[in-house]
Amino acid sequence: MPAQPFVDKLNEQIANEFAAHQQYVACAVYYDSQALPQLARFFYRQALEERGHAMMMVQFLLDTGAEVTTPGVAEPRSRFADLVEPLALALDQEQRVSEQINALAATAREAGDYTSEQFVQWFIKEQIEEVATMSALLRVAERSREDAANIEDFLAREHPGDEAGDPTAPQAAGAG
Ligand SMILES: [Fe+2]
Ligand SMILES: [Fe+2]
Repeated sequence: MPAQPFVDKLNEQIANEFAAHQQYVACAVYYDSQALPQLARFFYRQALEERGHAMMMVQFLLDTGAEVTTPGVAEPRSRFADLVEPLALALDQEQRVSEQINALAATAREAGDYTSEQFVQWFIKEQIEEVATMSALLRVAERSREDAANIEDFLAREHPGDEAGDPTAPQAAGAG
């Protein structure tokens, strides 16, 4: 069984990941409403990734016989002033999640729970990528205030479709 402080924190993180899912759906819907299909597509896909993270955490708790609670989530922000704001919010969110994931690793280590610490490693690596992607997109968005075609073209070129699944990713509940 994972250490109880880790189980409690991981259940909180499941809520954070579902909240990230909802927030990214809200960003995608905003971009769709602004006729920015590449930004919308990027955020719809990002939302699914966040749901995937939550379900990987659910599967870990199931596999280790720990308690899982299915959380409610706070309402996401869905009004934005321009195309830059959702990306600024997304970068903020990813930086916050990186801190949360590091805190999870620290909790596992303090408890001598190396199984849980190892589980968290994949998420540490994933967060480096997500923060890098969002900060690059935010910079492109800031250059695209006058011409949204700029960031739409960038996304079509640099993030064309579903990236191949990561074979090192933890199993997600309900996916197998
Ligand atoms: Fe996530
Ligand atoms: Fe993320």
